[in-house]
Order: sequence, then C-alpha cells, then structure tokens
Amino acid sequence: MFSGAIQMNFMGRDIVSIEDFSQQEINHILDIAKTMEPLAKTGSDMLKGKILATLFYEPSTRTRLSFEAAMLKLGGANIGFAEPDFASVRKGENLADTIRTVENYADIIALRHSLEGAAKLAAEFSKVPIINGGTGAEEHPTQAFTDLYTIRKEKGRIDGLKVALIGDLRYGRTVHSLAYALALYDIELFLVSPETLRMRKDVISTIKNKIPVTEDANLEAIMPKIDVLYVTRIQKERFPDATEYAKVKGAYKIDLKTLKNARKDMIILHPLPRVDEIASEVDNTPLAKYFQQVHNGIVVRMALLSLVLGAIK
Ligand code: CP
Repeated sequence: MFSGAIQMNFMGRDIVSIEDFSQQEINHILDIAKTMEPLAKTGSDMLKGKILATLFYEPSTRTRLSFEAAMLKLGGANIGFAEPDFASVRKGENLADTIRTVENYADIIALRHSLEGAAKLAAEFSKVPIINGGTGAEEHPTQAFTDLYTIRKEKGRIDGLKVALIGDLRYGRTVHSLAYALALYDIELFLVSPETLRMRKDVISTIKNKIPVTEDANLEAIMPKIDVLYVTRIQKERFPDATEYAKVKGAYKIDLKTLKNARKDMIILHPLPRVDEIASEVDNTPLAKYFQQVHNGIVVRMALLSLVLGAIK
C-alpha cells in the first residue's frame, strides 16, 4: 500500500553529479551531517573494517584530507594516492584499469580528476561506489553539499535566500554543482563575473527554468540585498591560454570597502583555496564563514560515507 513516504536509498550509490539528487535527498544528507557533529569530536566505529580509497589525479587539500579524516573519525581506514606520478598512472595505466584494480582493495572510492566525465566513467567500471571529488571544470558535488549545509547552518534555512556567485563561473566546478543544487530550492540567484568567465550555458539553461537568475549582476548594486556571497578563485590552471588568464587576473576583490553596504547578517563563503579574491582583512569579520565551511566538509563527508556504505539509512 502506498504510504505517502518516498523511499530514499543511498546504499551503494555513486555520487557523480549533484543533478542525480532530489531536494528531499539533499535535505536528508544535510540532516545526517548534523548528527555527525558530535561524532566528529568523539569518533565512532560505525565504519570499522571499511576502506576508502582516495584517488586524486589533481591537487587537493580540503577534499582529500576531509574525506580521509571523515573515514578515520568513523573507524574506517584509507588508502590511495594524492599524486598520480607515484602510481602506475605514470606507467600509462588508464582510469578504467586503475578503478578495476582499486575496487579489489577498497569499499568505496573518492576520485578527483582533471577530465570532465571521469567520475561517470569510473562509476561505469567500478563494482564499489564512486564519489566525485571534483572533475575538471565540470562538477564538485560534495562541495555543494558542504556549501548547502553551511548555508542552512548559518542562515537557518535555504529557501527564501538571495545568493550571489562571484568569480570564475566558467571554469569553477564548485559553482556549477552549487547552482544546480540551489535551483532545487526557492532561491534568487545573482551571477557576477568578468565577461569571459560567465556561467556555462548548459548550467544556465538548466537553472533558469527553475529559479530567477540575474546574469552579469552588478555587485555594488546587489550587495545591500544579498544573504549569501559565494566567492571563487579564478581557475588559472584551466585556462587554455595564459594571455586570457592575464586579462582577468585580479578582476575582482572582496575587501572591507566592497562590503560597506552588505547586510549585517550576510555570510561570505568560498570553497577555498583562495588566492587574492578575498582580502585577509575580511577574515575576522562576522560575515566570513569560509573556515566554518571547511569544518562542515568533514561532517558532510562523514554523512556521505555512512549513507553510501549503508551504516545509516
Ligand atoms: N574546496 C576544494 O575542493 O578544495 P581542495 O581543492 O583543497 O580540495
């Protein structure tokens, strides 16, 4: 008999794109992440005997280390590489063969790769769940879960907020996943970027059908009304041409002057790393929440590991 309750099943599931998740599923992940807050302090043996492999073909500080810390906090163990040059990738092994090897050693794999589609390809070959830890300029779904968790924790809700995404909206994968996720909620979205770094057309066409989006917004004009300012680094490593990067380098900077007319309860997020797009003078203001966001990355990844490995429903 139909009970009215929608079944959610995370066990064994790949996390490749944020677009694979409904709002109800995202809310459940955020709820579970909240229950992980005390466990992040005390530790747990919930995933004792389980092994996470982190296969990182691109540099990372937060994503890889927070996945590994999350697994350790839950009683599991980690294997993997942070530098493909020290793995058989250097000898020419392809991604599919690496995945078909590592699946024998681990219960779950977190993958970061420079190529778009790499996580999807890995999931097609893998017998164990694949979590996308960032693929090229495409997506970074676990960062989006972290961003949403931070917004909900700091603002008490997601619905009804005005959110501005500023920076490299073309090559920044975090803003693509976040935009898809925000479009599931009652959000008004403002996009602020240099002309050449505008949001990808495929993302725009998806989200514009769901929420109001202002492209090419003027930051000074919208500053007094926005609740969340999400700042991103210009992704120098993704520019096909160094002269194109030189044209936009330093094109925007958030400092105390920029924030003069900001709401007192506005929050500033950044997936990090930052280069020069937020002045350090902002760090000590009550608006800056990017280091809290880093903490939230652990509890969110604890939630994802425990759900996908079936320790929690
Ligand atoms: N936010 C993020 O992806 O940071 P890392 O590149 O350090 O993992």
